[in-house]
Amino acid sequence: MFESQTISFIGAGNMGEAMIKGILRDELVPPDQILAADPRPERRAYLEEKYAIHTTNDNREATSAANILVLSVKPQVLPKVMDEIHLELDPNALVLSIVAGARTSVITQGLRHAAVVRSMPNTPGQFGVGMTVWTTTPHVSDKQQNQAQKILQALGKEIWMDDEGYLDMATALSGTGPAYVFLFIEAMIDAGVHMGFARHIAEEMVMQTIEGSLTVVRELKRHPATLRNMVTSPGGTSAAALYEMEKGGFRTIVSKAIFAAYRRSVELGDATERKLNED
Ligand SMILES: NC(=O)c1ccc[n+]([C@@H]2O[C@H](COP(=O)([O-])OP(=O)(O)OC[C@H]3O[C@@H](n4cnc5c(N)ncnc54)[C@H](OP(=O)(O)O)[C@@H]3O)[C@@H](O)[C@H]2O)c1
Repeated sequence: MFESQTISFIGAGNMGEAMIKGILRDELVPPDQILAADPRPERRAYLEEKYAIHTTNDNREATSAANILVLSVKPQVLPKVMDEIHLELDPNALVLSIVAGARTSVITQGLRHAAVVRSMPNTPGQFGVGMTVWTTTPHVSDKQQNQAQKILQALGKEIWMDDEGYLDMATALSGTGPAYVFLFIEAMIDAGVHMGFARHIAEEMVMQTIEGSLTVVRELKRHPATLRNMVTSPGGTSAAALYEMEKGGFRTIVSKAIFAAYRRSVELGDATERKLNED
């Protein structure tokens, strides 16, 4: 599927490295078919040493060599980078962006290039257990779509959506999702410490409880409300705790928070698009 194809990365930081690691782990291409462009010499030396890939400090060089060009820089530098590289891009190449909030219209316009994948990964992708939601422009061929899927699987699970509107929703749900879970973990640990557990013991208890609960949801495949009812005895401890959570508006707060993230994602996307049109 990737025979004699070069996958180039523009920006090889946390996410770029996670993708490189996953691509090599899944043996999609040998290391010498990966070229990573990154400004810092020590970063390039580290990547060469650890993964035996090629690196460069020249984004144009990486772009002209690419059959698949991964955009993995921070959103702030994307306009400058697109300006720098667009003339070097092979018209038959596939562009795969993981840049948060950068709409396909921004990338197709910035690179004057039609075949674009836009994806929204999340931080667990750094360890191969991420959730990535992605979409494609109509010019992406079936072969390129399959290639993009394989590359994104390097970060964990992936779901393709035919409508880009879902990407802002995914940003709010799975992209920003780890932040909500971290807050919940923190709140539970603090409650444990408040009751009297040493912090490291409370941490272990909470993390194992969350991992275990996820396994129950996955294994039993029942609605979460059914699982919750199964552990709620009449007049018991779960009933007392859940009553307080509902009274405090837990469910509504979660929903409002996720909708706020969704609205913010749309706003940021609009702002980026406006900025590109002004330039
Ligand atoms: N981290 C996540 O979980 C996550 C989740 C979803 C989406 N994303 C998206 O993934 C992208 C990358 O995120 P990240 O966490 O991997 O960021 P990162 O670790 O900062 O990686 C970006 C890399 O790009 C390099 N860079 C800076 N300017 C450059 C330029 N002009 N040309 C080429 N490379 C350049 C940076 O080098 P220096 O460090 O020397 O500046 C750095 O090595 C972002 O757009 C982000 O929105 C990330």
